Amino acid sequence: MKNRSLVSINDYTKKEWISLLDLAEEFEKNPRQKILENYVVATLFFEPSTRTRLSFESAATRLGAKIVGFTDSSLSSVKKGESLNDTILTVSNYSDIIVMRHPRDGSARYASEVSPIPIINAGDGANQHPTQTLLDLYSIRKTQGTLNNLNIAFIGDLKYGRTVHSLVIALCEFNTTFHLVSPVELKLPSYVKQHIKNNNLKYYQYTELNEVIPKADILYMTRIQKERFLDPIEYEKVKNAYVLKNCMLEKAKDNLRILHPLPRVNEITIDVDANPKAYYFQQALNGVYVRQALLASILGVK
Ligand code: CP
Repeated sequence: MKNRSLVSINDYTKKEWISLLDLAEEFEKNPRQKILENYVVATLFFEPSTRTRLSFESAATRLGAKIVGFTDSSLSSVKKGESLNDTILTVSNYSDIIVMRHPRDGSARYASEVSPIPIINAGDGANQHPTQTLLDLYSIRKTQGTLNNLNIAFIGDLKYGRTVHSLVIALCEFNTTFHLVSPVELKLPSYVKQHIKNNNLKYYQYTELNEVIPKADILYMTRIQKERFLDPIEYEKVKNAYVLKNCMLEKAKDNLRILHPLPRVNEITIDVDANPKAYYFQQALNGVYVRQALLASILGVK
């Protein structure tokens, strides 16, 4: 993985994902190692973030790296009309690796093609969020003891949810059975469904949440993403489509765990948080270890 960008989850092989998860386990046991003291990590966030940016910065800082970057591109020269090309070429003079989130699909691929240093895609529009996928795989393996042969239910905004797209593609390598719960308007894009079919795996589509709960090993809840809708009336129609409440979990399997990439709006009520099946805040913590593994691997120190 040394010096290789991560733009799409398929830029790395299944074997490489697993070795990253194994390395993340080592960082979980010992997260403070000064192995990146001579490195500078740039975090360029053209779109809001709490977990991805802060967990990358926490991961890098705990390994001794320095951070440069911006969290609001309107305070950078982007505001003056600077192109993505020029921003990337400039920041590559000041850092060893760039972590970038951008609202435009394909922007991370473009950045990786012009950049002389590796780019990590921290989310590009509605396209992909591969580092979230790695921490999701880590969380699934940690809670289920395996990644193989699981029933995984995705609920909510499957159309615009970039975390869903990357994770479904990755799970196709693990003989997953997919349960896809969404409003008709927010179904999983056909190219992702085609990927499931190409792998001869089963998927079932639902519009109701209750019927999948007893079948699932993982419930992967997602937010309906208001910012991706062109028409606010269309958002209003679906914004409360699914709300998971604690009382709905009575028939769930013992091993069920609830994941959510977060942020949550109203799709999981607060009373679920105390249920031992709720795993979303630990999931966000796992992001630190997985991102430590990724930075150390790409920078070639592990
Ligand atoms: N999961 C995720 O991408 O969260 P943030 O938008 O807070 O980074």
